[in-house]
Amino acid sequence: MRLPLVVLTGVVFLTGLAAPAHAAEHGRREEPLAATPPMGWNSWNRFGCAIDEDLIRRTADALVSSGMRDAGYDHVNIDDCWMAPERDAEGRLQADPDRFPSGIRALADYVHARGMRLGIYSSAGTRTCQGLPASLDHEEVDARTFAEWQVDYLKYDNCDNLGRPAFERYLRMGEALRATGRPIVYSICEWGENAPWEWGREVGGNLWRTTQDIKDTWDSVLGILDRQAGLEEHSGPGGWNDPDMLEVGNGGMSESEYRAHFSLWALLNAPLIAGNDVAEMSEATRRILLNRDLIAVNQDWGGMQGRRVRDDGDQEVWAKPMSDGSVTIVLLNRGDAPSTVGVRPDETGLPLASGYRLRDLWTGEETRTGTLVEAEVPVHDVVVYRIWPTE
Ligand code: GLA
Repeated sequence: MRLPLVVLTGVVFLTGLAAPAHAAEHGRREEPLAATPPMGWNSWNRFGCAIDEDLIRRTADALVSSGMRDAGYDHVNIDDCWMAPERDAEGRLQADPDRFPSGIRALADYVHARGMRLGIYSSAGTRTCQGLPASLDHEEVDARTFAEWQVDYLKYDNCDNLGRPAFERYLRMGEALRATGRPIVYSICEWGENAPWEWGREVGGNLWRTTQDIKDTWDSVLGILDRQAGLEEHSGPGGWNDPDMLEVGNGGMSESEYRAHFSLWALLNAPLIAGNDVAEMSEATRRILLNRDLIAVNQDWGGMQGRRVRDDGDQEVWAKPMSDGSVTIVLLNRGDAPSTVGVRPDETGLPLASGYRLRDLWTGEETRTGTLVEAEVPVHDVVVYRIWPTE
């Protein structure tokens, strides 16, 4: 469970721990929710409505044993279909008694005991997208219920919204969550229909979907990617553009396409929410999801979303400034033939320097270059470099 981090400098001196610079400067500081893009797992992309409490426990265990939790994937998020078809006699949402007989609180305890957090789902409409009861006009009671269950994250969908204005609907839940006093990450799933990047923070959101649902196809990944260009300025610590959850490992794309999908989502500061069967994943899937160098790019504390800096048709270059002065670039080949993709360092935002040190974030190989960064990129694949200027 994540509690707000409050550091008192006096306490720090007494205990002899090194005070983080920010704590020393300000005396005390509360860590904002979602200071870096949330990471974790969600049931929807792989399992849809075929979920039950055993799956959630099995996945929580697998997140630990696979090393994913320790790499940062610490939210276990239950999507649609967890709730019973009717509210209880007091008007509260209740878990489906057949598939979640122990109830949501028991699952929260289970994942908290393993150092992770529990996420849940509802809709800013009368029904969820699968026709189950949802939270429109029940915001206060539902937020209280989630807080009582010790839930840490709410994904709030957009189905059955009666055509009522999005801002009001999402504000109402944002306020209800805040009123519980429990820090609950608020994930706005409004599909980008009303430019939620413009008002997501104002309603208390920590992330907001920018598009319709992802599918497990290369075309879907590219279509969503194109819609992220231009949204960069709206994303940052505490409030992130969300191009939807990962499909890595779900079987519809090639290994190189999944590598590209993951690299681009990392560069976009997307929430890295795995959507596969973690308990049964292949070694190739594990290697992608556990690429520590790319996770570090995604979680860079500066929180600057990458942007497209070259668009040469099927060949593109995306670049993200890192807080240590380096830049991470993705050389993307969208096309059906291998291709050389290149960029000048100054086009990526790097300062002019006599040379540059490059680390290939998929092979770990380090090289140097003078004036041009380029690579042969296979079909539907990427080459990713983190680049530091050298003197
Ligand atoms: C919508 C959301 C998806 C998923 C489903 C569940 O389509 O955008 O991410 O939550 O509903 O029904």
